[in-house]
Amino acid sequence: MKRVGIIGTGSYLPEKILTNLDIEKFLDTSDEWIYTRTGIRSRRVAAPDEVTSDLCKVACERAMEMAGVKADDIDLIILATITPDTHCPAGANWLEAKLGCDRAVSFDITAACSGFIFALHVADRLIKSGSNKMVLVVAGEIMTRVVNWKERESCILWGDGAGAAVVTATDSGAEVLSTHINTDGANGDTLLMPGGGSKTTPISYESVDKGLHFLKLIEGNKSFKVAVNKFADACEEALAYNGYTIEDPDVIIPHQANIRIIQGMAKKLKVPMEKVYLTIEKYGNISSATVPIALDEAVRDGTITKDKLVLLTAFGGGLTWASSLIRW
Ligand code: UT7
Repeated sequence: MKRVGIIGTGSYLPEKILTNLDIEKFLDTSDEWIYTRTGIRSRRVAAPDEVTSDLCKVACERAMEMAGVKADDIDLIILATITPDTHCPAGANWLEAKLGCDRAVSFDITAACSGFIFALHVADRLIKSGSNKMVLVVAGEIMTRVVNWKERESCILWGDGAGAAVVTATDSGAEVLSTHINTDGANGDTLLMPGGGSKTTPISYESVDKGLHFLKLIEGNKSFKVAVNKFADACEEALAYNGYTIEDPDVIIPHQANIRIIQGMAKKLKVPMEKVYLTIEKYGNISSATVPIALDEAVRDGTITKDKLVLLTAFGGGLTWASSLIRW
């Protein structure tokens, strides 16, 4: 069996910062409510002329630079996103062209906030099977364009950004020990974008008037409890598979949906918050891109160094939940 490794990471956050205090000016909310209920103080917002593939392009270039590989070396691009530039062609196809990865094949994966780990899972299997050699696993979102800025329960949660990793068969570099993916389609109606698909075809004035094209969070406090449990389940799945216990990981990188969900997970697993890497305060929830952005920041700021055991875990719409254990 081939050893699959991560040889470079990269991320990109748009320049514009939207703080809770900015949001207070146009929405019936407060910095105090948002911060105490979610742990978020600010989020990034893409410039009007930026699209998802632009954010991903910079994240990929940074990952490729760290890995020391060129566009021509890449033979596969897997983009996790729920906010592609267009639904057809796939967001990954636009990205492939922008990166000049002429040898690569590219496609999207839709798994909401768990998307990056789903994409890593597919890359791991395709490399192990011998089908692909040098893979860009990337996640990017412009969430601020698909939320309803009049719905205070959910719009305050989201932000924009992209994160990427270069994944390949290698004897050096961080080893992907395992990846685990799960779905529960029967309970997918709690976090969804009801319009824009075949359910509302053609997109009509009526569907737009009803705001069906926006991301909806139905009964956020219900998904809150499910999220705590699924985060913990996903961690336990990866640890048990590799014969580790919760004491073993040096760094835990959870998807960042709400600081209270992360604290709930840590309490359930009996893991100290010092081991949990956080970006939520400054970036909010960037759906699929949250995990790879945090991973890249943890690598670049020295939190993750050689031999550290890193546990990734995520939960999102679908429902989806996933985990991965990586020996750096
Ligand atoms: O990425 C993975 C998927 N993400 C999730 O699954 C999100 C999980 N859910 C959550 O993070 C939290 O449930 C929310 C942040 C969405 C909401 O927090 P909560 O503590 O569960 O609040 P709540 O929905 O129970 O609402 C409590 C109160 C309500 O007022 P009343 O009915 O008690 O008078 C809301 O109207 O807070 C009110 N409220 C707000 N107040 C000020 C809701 N949103 C806001 C707001 N500002 N932005």
